[in-house]
Amino acid sequence: MDALKVNINHALNCIEKDAIDALLPEVLAAQKHLIDGDAAGNDFLGWVDLPENLDKDMLARLKADVKRLQDKSQVMVVVGIGGSYLGARMVIEALQSEFAAMNLGNKPFVVYAGHTLGEDYYGQLLNLLDHVDYTTCVISKSGTTTEPAVAFRIVKAHMEKKYGHEECQKRIVAITDAKRGALHDIATQEGYPMYVIPDNVGGRFSVLTPVGLLPIAMAGYDIDRLIQGARDMRRICIENKTLESNPALMYAAVRNAIYRKGIKVEMLVSCQLNLRYLAEWWKQLYGESEGKNGKGIMPHSITITTDLHSMGQYVQDGERLMMETMLRVSKPNSTVPVPTDERNLDSINYLTCKTLTQINDCAAEGTIAAHNAGGVPVVELTVPMIDEYYIGQIIYFFEFACGVSGYTLGVNPFDQPGVEAYKKNMFHLLGKPGF
Ligand code: PA5
Repeated sequence: MDALKVNINHALNCIEKDAIDALLPEVLAAQKHLIDGDAAGNDFLGWVDLPENLDKDMLARLKADVKRLQDKSQVMVVVGIGGSYLGARMVIEALQSEFAAMNLGNKPFVVYAGHTLGEDYYGQLLNLLDHVDYTTCVISKSGTTTEPAVAFRIVKAHMEKKYGHEECQKRIVAITDAKRGALHDIATQEGYPMYVIPDNVGGRFSVLTPVGLLPIAMAGYDIDRLIQGARDMRRICIENKTLESNPALMYAAVRNAIYRKGIKVEMLVSCQLNLRYLAEWWKQLYGESEGKNGKGIMPHSITITTDLHSMGQYVQDGERLMMETMLRVSKPNSTVPVPTDERNLDSINYLTCKTLTQINDCAAEGTIAAHNAGGVPVVELTVPMIDEYYIGQIIYFFEFACGVSGYTLGVNPFDQPGVEAYKKNMFHLLGKPGF
């Protein structure tokens, strides 16, 4: 089995290898906390063994429901925010064509709601839903988050008008807490099929529960391969005790060593546009897990070469406050060579017959060398290709490394007390009783 690899060679312009190696005892202690469940946040470690523990009956029911819902859908609306939508969106956008929306009817196209309160977005969504056959998957662990609650009320009202109550029972599925919360109560009373988010799995670690698996399967992707990728990476992360043999320990060690040298921002750099939601998912995972108690690397992201023509100037030449983690993919899923042109009016005949990946790889190499020369350390993560299996590996790698990194930083990586502050102010302004 090939696996995701970490290369720190281009980070050594900023940090000595000895300083990274010196963190081995700390990352091993953090790894042990995740395995033994003996540190802060240990009631949210359900994700650690999730790839091995997924309930087979639940998966069989999920696949049957997906098949039934697919037959009724040109579009599925996934309602959720934060950890209740980013995982599914990251996987779907990494795998689907950028132009999938142009091909409605081939397989269900997933659209999102509940992740914004922008009124125009919902106006546009309702216009679309007037014209397509659709189903809805509403996801909220607490069952009380305002944004998805408002969005679901809007979508449910549209569905009931379009299809009637009885048909809605066949077109809506809810994913929420086993016993509590408004969404649990709505689903029970309305008779919607329900899936449970385990108590011990936090939102940002929930992509391998029905939260991610149902929408991903709905979009037509192989969730068994996704789970297998996560399962194989879990073994690597749990069994290996050296930095060289364990990519999660190495990544956690190098980013903490760099942070301790005063670098406060990490930019996830991807070389393909279809990985931009992977970066959004990663930002939530690391931002919510580590940004607390006045500490934590701030996660940011760019795509190359797109953003080299905007953020590239700052990274090369602005304040020296960032490291980069470049996610590289060895083999593309498509081959597009540059055509020959005898007249060479555009003067790019030197690229003739090279594939775009060869050109993009040179851009990546050139970027690493340039940013290194500008004082930016670059950690490289490489996967053989983007498919369900390797995305499964990437998910588990980043999750495990996040837990290790957070404990090494000295925070509880599994709470998020800071996200409550804006809600209290908003509720007060909206006149919610009790605020
Ligand atoms: O990571 C988290 O816990 C948050 O981002 C939540 O996923 C997000 O706030 C949505 O919460 P809920 O699923 O309870 O609606």
